[in-house]
This record gives sequence, structure tokens and C-alpha cells, in this order.
Amino acid sequence: MGLQYDTTAFDVSSSTEPSSVLVTGGAGYIGSHAVLALLEAGHRVTVVDTLVRGHRRAIDVLAAHGDVHFVEADCGDRGVVLPLLRERAIDTVLHFAAYCYVGESVQEPLKYYANNTGSSLRLLMAVADSDVSRFIFSSTCSTYGEPGEDRLPIGEDCPQRPINPYGRSKLLVEQALSGFAARRRAEGRRFACARLRYFNVAGSDPHCRVGEVHDPETHLVPICLQAAAGLRDSVTVFGTDYGTPDGTCIRDYVHVTDLVDAHLAAMAAIEPGGDHAWNVGTGRGTSVREILDSVRRVTGVDVPVEQGARRPGDPPSLYCDPSRIRDDLGWTARHQELDDIVRTAWDWMQSHPNGYD
Ligand SMILES: NC(=O)c1ccc[n+]([C@@H]2O[C@H](COP(=O)([O-])OP(=O)(O)OC[C@H]3O[C@@H](n4cnc5c(N)ncnc54)[C@H](O)[C@@H]3O)[C@@H](O)[C@H]2O)c1
Repeated sequence: MGLQYDTTAFDVSSSTEPSSVLVTGGAGYIGSHAVLALLEAGHRVTVVDTLVRGHRRAIDVLAAHGDVHFVEADCGDRGVVLPLLRERAIDTVLHFAAYCYVGESVQEPLKYYANNTGSSLRLLMAVADSDVSRFIFSSTCSTYGEPGEDRLPIGEDCPQRPINPYGRSKLLVEQALSGFAARRRAEGRRFACARLRYFNVAGSDPHCRVGEVHDPETHLVPICLQAAAGLRDSVTVFGTDYGTPDGTCIRDYVHVTDLVDAHLAAMAAIEPGGDHAWNVGTGRGTSVREILDSVRRVTGVDVPVEQGARRPGDPPSLYCDPSRIRDDLGWTARHQELDDIVRTAWDWMQSHPNGYD
């Protein structure tokens, strides 16, 4: 792949020259952790976020840690974004901005195609008229749909057959980005991109400066922790009769700071002409019951559980083969222990019982 990355000295904080980086969705969960890491690595950061699902207070916290220029706008607003790309001499885009609820995407598909696909395409058209040379896109394991058991662990060459509008809205952007990168290559223009397919992201900044705040919360770890904190009565386990060892669904939980490290590693490694797809996960499958056990160990609370029916479109097992990103970038998840992931999320929730409010 022509990548040069020193795996013996994997230290993302010093692995790349200072850049001017546009972070779309930087007021959200993963984006805010990325901004923090970029600032700590000495980069100049511009955030564009509608704040529709993000938090202004997160921006205030981030601004205390370095040079962040915040603009409240849609990342697809060319009139805002193109001048920013030029005036702030942006060379790298980390594109996190999106709506991310699978269920909502089924209820309101056009909202997802318009925002996740439409705004991304307009962002790419602004990038096409700028000097941006690196583009890192937040894709998702949802683009794989329901791979059969014979496809586990999921490699990047697993067919992408998403089964909901959320996954489809993201796959379309992957395809558009690859097409754009190929065109740049043909024209001899400096450009490289990475499509990072995240598995289930969890945990928070270990110093509790930023954390996960979604409304409504749909992710299992914070839902279990909300129950442990008495903020909800119980946790519903959707399906206990799957053909998995304990009958519940299995997913691949990656710590948010490890995920962010993967972005910085990709930034440092991709070279002009490159177009890469990398799975970002631990490679380890964890069942819903194992999450509940971990929550009990970390919080000391045995969360009340209700058994629910299987949800349509919930595959029994989704976990990745992370060997490509390990081989190419030297990246592996540092947080391998589930309790370590859950503990940072719990610390955040205890220190911020009302989120950023
Ligand atoms: N959280 C996960 O487990 C997970 C898993 C796979 C992929 N992802 C992807 O990671 C990215 C970030 O997810 P998150 O959990 O941080 O979500 P989030 O909702 O916390 O953050 C998304 C941010 O984007 C902003 N936003 C949305 N549309 C926008 C637009 N058109 N222009 C500007 N800002 C906009 C929102 O206001 C919010 O601040 C998303 O692209 C998501 O699809 C997340």
C-alpha cells in the first residue's frame, strides 16, 4: 500500500507534522474526543457543527485546551465551508458530522440521506475547490449489513450490503469519496482518503473533559450505566435466544480514544493517491450479558433486566478482523479490557450526571 508508519514507535501525539484540520461534527461524542487529541498533538483545529446533536459546552471545554475555531453551520454549506477551507489553509478534513440512529433512519430515511449523504457530497464539492489533501471519513460496520456467520470476523473485503438507510447513507459517501479520490489521482492532484469503519464505540476521555451525551441514548453501555445510576428503571435485552454462547447479541466495543488514535495514525500515514478502508475495532466479540456483567463489576449495581423480543435487522454477531489496520498503520486498540472501557464511561457519567448542563 506504500504506507510508511513506524510501528515500533506508535505514538500518535508526535507522529505527524502540525496540520490545519477541519473537524465536522466536533461538538458531538467522537468528534469532541478527536478535537482534544488533535489539540494535544499541536494541530490547529476548525470545527463546523450544526449543534443539532452536539454540545456548545463541549466546544467551550475544548477551547480551553488549544486553538479551536468554531463555526455553527452545516458542513454542506458551501458558502461557509469553502472560505473556511481557504482562509484557514485547511489541509485535512475529519468528517464526523452525521445522524447516527439506525431506528430513526428507518422512520425518517430522507432525513438521513439528505444529511449524511447530501451534506457530505456538498462538503466534498467544496473540498474539490480547495487545497485539502487528506480526508478521513467516519464510516460504520452498518455498511456490512448482516454478514453470515461464515464472514466472521468481518474483514474489509466483506461485501457491503447495508440493511437500513443509516448504513446506506454512509456507504454512498464511501463510494463518492473513492470516486473523488480516483479523479484526483488521475489528475495528479495531491489527495488521499481513509474510510474508517467503526464498530461499537464506547467509553470517554479518562480525564472526563468530554464524554458521551446522546439524546435519546441508544448505545448499550451508556444505557446500562444510566440504569446503574438510577436514571432509568431497567435495561431491555433484545433477544436472548440467538445462537451465541449466552443467547444475546455479540458486538465489538472499541474505546473512543483508541478510535481517535486510529484517525491520527491514518492522518500521519496516508500518502497522495491513497484510498484506504480500515475496520476499527478490537476484534473481540462481547455479548450483551458480558456488558451487563462488566457494568455490575464496575458500578457495583446489578442492573434490572427485562427480556425483549429480537429486533429486526439485529445480526447475532458483529465483530471485526482488525489485522489490516494493524499491519498498515501499526494501530491496535490499547483498551482490551472491557471493564476499562466501561469504567471511563462510568467516571464520565458520575462526574457529569446531567451531561454538559
Ligand atoms: N457512536 C458510534 O458507536 C459510531 C459507530 C459507527 C460510526 N459512527 C459515526 O461516527 C460519527 C460521529 O458519531 P457520534 O456518536 O459522535 O455522533 P454525535 O451525534 O454525538 O455527533 C455528531 C455531530 O455531528 C453534528 N452534525 C450532524 N449533522 C451535521 C451537519 N450536516 N453539519 C454539521 N454538523 C452536523 C451533530 O450536531 C453532532 O454534534 C458519525 O458519522 C457516526 O455515523 C459512530
